[in-house]
Amino acid sequence: KTIPSIDFVLNETSYTRLCSTKNILTVNGLFPGPALHVRKGDRLIVNVQNQGNYNVTLHWHGVKQPRNPWSDGPEYVTQCPIKPGANFSYELIFSTEEGTLWWHAHSDWSRATVHGPIIIYPKVGTNYPFPKPDAEFPIVLASWFKGDVMEIIQTALANGGEPNISDAFTINGQPGDLYNCSKPGTFRIMFDFGKTYLLRIINSIMNEEMFFMVADHNLTVVGMDGAYLKPIKTDYIMITPGQTMDVLITANQSLSHYYMAARAYAGVVYDNTTTTAIVEYNGNYTSPLAPVFPNLPNYTDINAVTNFTRRLRALASTQHPVDVPKVVDIRLVITLSMNTLPCANNSCDNGTRLAASMNNISFMYPKVDILQAYYKQIRGIYKTNFPSVPPYVFNFTADDVPDNVLTPEKDTRVRVLKYNSSVEIVFQGTNVLNGAENHPIHQHGYSFYVVGFGFGNFDNETDPEGFNLVDPPEMNTVGVPTNGWAAIRFKADNPGVWFMHCHLDRHMSWGMDTVLIVKNGTTRLTSMRRAPSHLNPC
Ligand code: C2O
Ligand code: CU
Repeated sequence: KTIPSIDFVLNETSYTRLCSTKNILTVNGLFPGPALHVRKGDRLIVNVQNQGNYNVTLHWHGVKQPRNPWSDGPEYVTQCPIKPGANFSYELIFSTEEGTLWWHAHSDWSRATVHGPIIIYPKVGTNYPFPKPDAEFPIVLASWFKGDVMEIIQTALANGGEPNISDAFTINGQPGDLYNCSKPGTFRIMFDFGKTYLLRIINSIMNEEMFFMVADHNLTVVGMDGAYLKPIKTDYIMITPGQTMDVLITANQSLSHYYMAARAYAGVVYDNTTTTAIVEYNGNYTSPLAPVFPNLPNYTDINAVTNFTRRLRALASTQHPVDVPKVVDIRLVITLSMNTLPCANNSCDNGTRLAASMNNISFMYPKVDILQAYYKQIRGIYKTNFPSVPPYVFNFTADDVPDNVLTPEKDTRVRVLKYNSSVEIVFQGTNVLNGAENHPIHQHGYSFYVVGFGFGNFDNETDPEGFNLVDPPEMNTVGVPTNGWAAIRFKADNPGVWFMHCHLDRHMSWGMDTVLIVKNGTTRLTSMRRAPSHLNPC
């Protein structure tokens, strides 16, 4: 049976936002990019032609790609870049995922404009575990930059300071009524009174976690990251970059128009602006001039983050069981820190640059991708001694942290795991450089169960007693709380080379990344696929 295929042509396309016109890198001319529609268990080939000006790769965020890291996409981790003028074909293998995921560029900051939904319907003959919605809408949250995104990050890395975080947030490509010159374009959806809609919400924003609401309407969250949840009735959601949420909404309010809106959660002031779209009821009525505005949590409201996140529970039904390891073979503790590093050839403004690390290792991309080096046993590309516990143990979340932990080591270190081992990772946020922030940590090749999270330092005597091993939510990206920790578990049953990193792009660029290599099992079906015949040269 031949595998269906589609074409993704990357090129520069002119778009006007915030009163000015510029070229952005797009797929097939679209911002946001085209949606992929598949069913659970399908395969799909995406033929990418890079007609843009930069090296690029694409990643299928949350698609586990069993035994097939060759098509996972992170630049210099599983492949060399697709250079301008070059092509590459990705084979997407959908396995257990069902719901909403997304795809995005995975090279420098090109994902700002190169991203789109992946919608995975149930297999033929099976249904959603909730009443079938009357219609559905993808809702893609993204960042808009007035400048050239690739230049923004390159300049920030060279000067050593903070990059511009964004100039606006967008909903389905539009900043909305509250931004200059944006009113005519504001994204709208039409509701019929009495109907129920499925919103497939994707946080593709570069640097912030978001609150999202629709004025006067209840939301029922039924899934996230391609897995089902016990339904949660709420008036707002909190969604980190990398996460997706499937949300039901019933049109049961008076015929009028309402804002849907998203605003960042940030302990510190970054972009605290609000992006809006409009929900409008069909019918004959006179509505007030301005749509009703939702009462979003404040951008510093950490309690709103925690209260929502605590409610996330796996559906844990017979059709969608939970398979969380009860016994653990490998336990890792990974600290997440903001740091500084000396600049190469003193290029930075004050001799040091901002950096970030996991277990005090600030990840360096190698010259040849790690997957190729692993497969062909090319030596000297990476080291396998990523620490399994932090090299320094201190009061991670104190106001003052010791000086010796400020400067991490710059290196390309990975962690090798035996096939099928049961793994627990505790991510511990630190306050090094007073950098306490939420870190949305994303794991490629897997989804994992979030068995617990909390504030302060993880206590390995008492905290595990509170782990949820009954209905922990399954995610591919977990928001590790500010000055706190999160614990995940998974079975390492997908052999390959899998990137793990913070999904705030500036942290990723600064080195808050590592790689898990999961070794082959003993049979062909528990081993990585052979390398495809065409690999791009580095
Ligand atoms: Cu959504 Cu490594 O990516
Ligand atoms: Cu981070």
